[in-house]
Amino acid sequence: MQKVLVTGGCGYIGSHTIVDLINNGFDVVSVDSNIRSSTQLLEGVEKITGRKIRNYKVDLCNLEDTNAVFHENRDIVGVIHFAALKSVGESVNEPLLYFQNNLTSLVNVLKCIREYKIPNFVFSSSCSVYGNATELPVVETTPLGEAQSPYARTKQMGEQIIEDFSRVNTANSILLRYFNPVGAHPSALIGELPLGKPDNLVPVITQTAIGKIPKLTVFGSKYNTRDGSCIRDYIHVMDIANAHTKALQYLLEKRNSSNLDVFNLGTGNGVTVLEAIKAFEKVSGQQLNYEMGPERPGDVIAIYANNSKAKSLLGWDPQIGIEDSMRTAWQWEVALRDRVLQN
Ligand code: NAD
Ligand code: WQD
Repeated sequence: MQKVLVTGGCGYIGSHTIVDLINNGFDVVSVDSNIRSSTQLLEGVEKITGRKIRNYKVDLCNLEDTNAVFHENRDIVGVIHFAALKSVGESVNEPLLYFQNNLTSLVNVLKCIREYKIPNFVFSSSCSVYGNATELPVVETTPLGEAQSPYARTKQMGEQIIEDFSRVNTANSILLRYFNPVGAHPSALIGELPLGKPDNLVPVITQTAIGKIPKLTVFGSKYNTRDGSCIRDYIHVMDIANAHTKALQYLLEKRNSSNLDVFNLGTGNGVTVLEAIKAFEKVSGQQLNYEMGPERPGDVIAIYANNSKAKSLLGWDPQIGIEDSMRTAWQWEVALRDRVLQN
């Protein structure tokens, strides 16, 4: 069985990706310091897959410890690097923490890839690298705009580091630019676990509906969009997960023509905040307590992906629309509540 090292495997997207990798015949080891997670999601992965997953509780900013993990797993066919801090707001207040954590960990992983001659590398990037895109949908060749936060800058810089590394190293790398990952595994055994008060729309919706948050504020009602609210490309986390498996297979089968490739991971459909709320209300049967409010500073008005490249080259075919995304997000929120009530 081919073994893959997943960093950030205890997190939201990493845990869902481990499920998809195992379902596609890969063996997985995880490295996660649990700085922003616990082992709860990995336990969910074990229930779903019936497999025990080894997690090394290691901070990837520590080169010696990171090196020891690679030394013990030198037979891996590739690394999927999810580990990073991801809160846009926190990055504005703590820029050095973000540069230190997200870039040092990346450099250390790349050093180990070089030392142990690991052939394949997949990096979690973000549509935030496009900044305020002027042409829609955005294509991989759309010029990157001004980063709107230190977090987004760590993704732009991360991409540049990998680009420079790829010029002098033979490892084959893929940058995956996620749009807005949402939803949960249909088992409701794993899903998004925001620490503290969430900022992202879908956890705010589900937490409002379940009563953890009193009211949702729609940030902005007068934008030049079809209903005045912002437009995003909400992509189900299991579709995102599967793109990682497909990216790895693409590299393993040597279908790449260059040693660095970049792919957008979105559905290709823009959805407004009000449409997302309506979809949630429809599938959950809940009436959401929300109000229209002021614009959130730094928000991009509208962004959605052209995903043709991932479809044609990776053979990726995202299947899950906004309603099923909302349904699985809601099932996960309800499962979390029920677990608390049982304990
Ligand atoms: P997450 O916070 O759920 O998972 C990230 C994991 O990385 C956490 O478990 C955390 O403990 C771990 N980690 C962070 N720094 C580490 C370090 N130095 N050493 C070891 N482990 C460390 O986040 P997620 O939503 O699963 O995001 C995964 C990746 O995808 C991140 O790189 C993120 O920037 C990127 N991304 C996320 C989104 C999104 O909306 N969720 C969108 C675009 C890109
Ligand atoms: C979505 C829409 C809000 C909360 C962020 C990062 C980006 C990427 C994905 C990592 C916006 C509106 C939200 C609320 C609202 N992450 N909203 N009320 O801002 O598109 O992207 O997550 O790479 O880098 O910037 O996602 O979920 O915060 O917002 O009206 O309480 O929902 O204004 O239009 P965003 P989001």
